Amino acid sequence: MNCTDKDGQKHLGKVYLVGAGPGDPGLMTLKGKSLLECADVVIYDALVSPAILAMINPQAEQINAGKRMGRHSLLQEETTHLLMEKAQYHAIVVRLKGGDPFIFGRGGEEMAELVQAGITVEVVPGITSGIAAAAYAGIPLTHRLYSSSVTFVTGHEAAGKYKPSVNWQAIAHGSETIVIYMGIHNLPYIVEQLGTAGLSSETPIALVRWGTRPEQEELIGQLGTIVEQVEHTGFGAPAIAVIGQVVNMHSILSGCRPV
Ligand SMILES: C[S@@+](CC[C@H](N)C(=O)[O-])C[C@H]1O[C@@H](n2cnc3c(N)ncnc32)[C@H](O)[C@@H]1O
Repeated sequence: MNCTDKDGQKHLGKVYLVGAGPGDPGLMTLKGKSLLECADVVIYDALVSPAILAMINPQAEQINAGKRMGRHSLLQEETTHLLMEKAQYHAIVVRLKGGDPFIFGRGGEEMAELVQAGITVEVVPGITSGIAAAAYAGIPLTHRLYSSSVTFVTGHEAAGKYKPSVNWQAIAHGSETIVIYMGIHNLPYIVEQLGTAGLSSETPIALVRWGTRPEQEELIGQLGTIVEQVEHTGFGAPAIAVIGQVVNMHSILSGCRPV
């Protein structure tokens, strides 16, 4: 990629909100990769894989803004201010986020704050983990025989919260495939809610951890068994959960995982 603008100059102050994809470097977009190679500053999240970080221009300043459950390296507000500050002194500032920036990545909030502050900003979509991790586990989210609709939902909603924003009753009946992000810690609550909403305890469910990375792991079960399986195996985050009949395709397709 030519790292200068059309006039051959580097102009100050553009922030690119780039999706890093789920981990496999082969799933990074060409546009995202070019930006990493030209970047002056890269501020990245915890779930961005080492293979993607290795694409960053070695001269670029690299800042880990990673946030994982309960461990904030940088607060959201601090990250946004840092982006604004870096854009005043550098031409290409990349905000690198796992998966897709606009899917449970706070990309919309960050971009809006930058726009309101008068910063030029552009989004470069990435492949979201909900699609890619399921695919690498041999689970097509739609299938002409089993599912004609899919819902992406966050499971990061504390049980007992006064007014949960996720309506599990509606989610249970809204589509044939449900993909839950950040749901492992709340799995017992989510499973209970879906059961109360009427989903059978025999509904297939797959958990896919570190999807598309060499260390990818899968746990396949049913709504009635999965909580015990997780306790038994110690299966942990980061993982997506896929619920619905399409999970049965795993037994046929999982052997076709890319190598
Ligand atoms: C804050 S959300 C960010 C989602 C991201 N923007 C995306 O589009 O994939 C973090 C959650 O995404 C899911 N996730 C991200 N990367 C993953 C991966 N490689 N395998 C499985 N799940 C992943 C997990 O549910 C994790 O808790």
